[in-house]
Amino acid sequence: MKTIDSYNFAGKKAVVRVDLNVPLNPDFSVRDFTRINAVIATVKKIVADGGSAILMSHMGRPKDGFEDKFSLKHVVAPLSEKLGLEVKFGGDPIGAEADAMAADLKPGEVMLLDNLRFYKEEKKGDEEFAKKLASRGDVWVMDAFGTAHRAHASTAVIAKFMDEKVSGYVMGREVENAKKITDNPARPFTAIMGGAKVSDKILLIERIMEVADNIIIGGGMAYTFFKAQGGTIGNSLCEEDKLDLALELIEKAKAKGVNLLLPVDSVCGDKFGEDAAVASYDSNAIADGYMGLDIGPKAAEEFSKVIKESKSVLWNGPMGVSEWENFANGTTTVATAVAEATEAGAFSLIGGGDSAAAVNTLGFGDRVSYISTGGGAMLELMEGKVLPGIAALED
Ligand code: 3PG
Repeated sequence: MKTIDSYNFAGKKAVVRVDLNVPLNPDFSVRDFTRINAVIATVKKIVADGGSAILMSHMGRPKDGFEDKFSLKHVVAPLSEKLGLEVKFGGDPIGAEADAMAADLKPGEVMLLDNLRFYKEEKKGDEEFAKKLASRGDVWVMDAFGTAHRAHASTAVIAKFMDEKVSGYVMGREVENAKKITDNPARPFTAIMGGAKVSDKILLIERIMEVADNIIIGGGMAYTFFKAQGGTIGNSLCEEDKLDLALELIEKAKAKGVNLLLPVDSVCGDKFGEDAAVASYDSNAIADGYMGLDIGPKAAEEFSKVIKESKSVLWNGPMGVSEWENFANGTTTVATAVAEATEAGAFSLIGGGDSAAAVNTLGFGDRVSYISTGGGAMLELMEGKVLPGIAALED
């Protein structure tokens, strides 16, 4: 695979797939800059070499056709500001205006197309659509790690229509940091898994079990494990069809000598709502009418101790509904422990999505080793899957 450092963009037009799928506030300002910050180095390198960049991305999951709330026009100003140069907005990604703008693009200039997913052809991996995007440039730069697990027109199929293709800095960084966890991590290695569903994390838990010393399970998925062991979980989330699997995972962990930790207590609510009445219970004895919405203080303390003794930490998924104050303590406590472990010399990788948002909201972004720009993509990379966006670069 050719990497960006080995390529000179002088006089070249680069068609650059980035992941600018960033969360927006109701007034369309950017809520989290992680993905914007991540692509700056790649664009700067292209421009510094004397090349120009045609940036393209998706945003959210629009149905089909233009939808203002999913327009990348909202990202133009913050991107220009971070880059320190004006980013031109090309609009309709396969429109005549974008064609003309791309044709006129001078060395040192950068333009951004509107949301590729306004065309269903993007997700379908349509060849004509990919060919059109490819036709405007000399080289394809793939730097959308967050979308590299999708075999879409701009993330994989386009490679067929470009003579030259290189991976950008984000791709390189993500793969390198993932390896620090999956290939021979410093020990003890603790993986912290959270989020609502065990079914989303089965493959990751199974693979991580091969290398982890401790696996901490929090979030909604923990209650499937408690129910599987005969616990009473009130109205907590539970995947009834995964009860056997949960028991199997517990047994597997025992057999491998992996310390699997579940939250002994929970902060519960009488409904799934920010204003729910709050009560604490042991996680295997939750009262009728209540549901676990965060790990409890005893669990938070136990998890923290294990995390702080670790030399490598992977965190994927919050411990509770961390955006609601009454149910944020578990995630905050875990984030603090991860930050302190990192400051004591551990390598910590935050696996994107909600756990990354939690770390950033707390202002802990600089206190952990690496925050992935990928949610699903990081998960699949760690599960050992071949990502189409990486495979396309290798062809
Ligand atoms: C993400 O946010 O994980 C990526 O941008 C991919 O988005 P998708 O899950 O809608 O393909």
